[in-house]
Amino acid sequence: MLDLAVTNAVLPDGPPFVDAHFHMDSALTYGMPRVNRSGTLLEGIQLWSELKPSLTHETIRDRALALCRWSVARGTLLIRSHVDVCDPDLRAVKALLEVRELVRNEIDLQLVAFPQDGYLRWPEAERTLAAALDMGVDVVGGIPHFERTMPDGTASIERLCRIAAERRLPVDMHCDESDDPLSRHIEVLARETIRQGLHGRVTGSHLTAMHSMDNYYVSKLIPLMREAGISAVANPLINITLQGRHDTYPKRRGMTRVKELLAAGVNVACGHDCVMDPWYPLGSHDMLDVAHMGLHVGHMTGDAEMRAMFDCVTVNGARALGREGYGLDAGCWADLVLLQARSPIDALRLRPARLAVIRRGRVIAETASARPVVTLAGTTEEVTFHLGDGPRA
Ligand code: FE2
Repeated sequence: MLDLAVTNAVLPDGPPFVDAHFHMDSALTYGMPRVNRSGTLLEGIQLWSELKPSLTHETIRDRALALCRWSVARGTLLIRSHVDVCDPDLRAVKALLEVRELVRNEIDLQLVAFPQDGYLRWPEAERTLAAALDMGVDVVGGIPHFERTMPDGTASIERLCRIAAERRLPVDMHCDESDDPLSRHIEVLARETIRQGLHGRVTGSHLTAMHSMDNYYVSKLIPLMREAGISAVANPLINITLQGRHDTYPKRRGMTRVKELLAAGVNVACGHDCVMDPWYPLGSHDMLDVAHMGLHVGHMTGDAEMRAMFDCVTVNGARALGREGYGLDAGCWADLVLLQARSPIDALRLRPARLAVIRRGRVIAETASARPVVTLAGTTEEVTFHLGDGPRA
């Protein structure tokens, strides 16, 4: 039975949170076989390659299911997870396909065939990526900045977009996840999107190099992304920690240009990317943590800007993932989250309890309301963290 008698709070409800970019196969492996000492993306990839041979179907599946419980508790019911296809036996693909089926009544899980070690760089990726798609993986992935050269990155984008066009699938590529301002694969991805007729079906993830690009170049790039109907996905928690590691001072933030992309009409969503894995030691899969970090990193503290950041972890994510029936309008799925907060901005400020998470009209998670009682200066009062809190009668 739900206790909705929350003190001194107007309860907003909203559609579930959306994680537009995640890695469920590596989640909850922190410290295995060791921690990431440099904190860089490249050491994370090295660590993952050391860990991969020891993974089994059961360990991947069970960790993913544990992560999904965290997701539901936090009110995230739509997740796009990349899954590493650079494994001759496709263990992670098989395990996450099983997970997708096991959680289908609670979570919409989309899987991206992600060639972590490079589509052209890893010798068997052409075969394994095709096999993963044949097995039912939903989206074509890529990692052009990790190919051996810029031309190889371009070639990988062209080939992967052709595969997506032939199979009528969406595309979601890790793109320009570096601090190199000359990493311009997003430009090629936009061109191929237009050339292959993939308008509205393509997402560029990370795009951290855009943070460091020349402003004049970006003034041409962003309209091109808009023309191609590309969605951009920022991963603030990860971008702020992995990028800028080669800098002394000042240290670049690394997050893509969220504010400018939104202003230009590009659909921008956010992802958690990692939870306790070789790339990130923290996290509980809370998309409010993501948006909270994003608005700080992006200088988006204006009222409309904070609301826009809330959209990045809700409606914009659903749009990027092509999710129909998302929202609270008549005719949508009866999925919603009840927050112990008065508004979306309050939710960002407090990252409060998800009092109830409802899927198709069924309560699938409950959290008790938090009502701290504080004794101070001779009085004992309940604290609500709202302006104007005074002594209660
Ligand atoms: Fe990622």
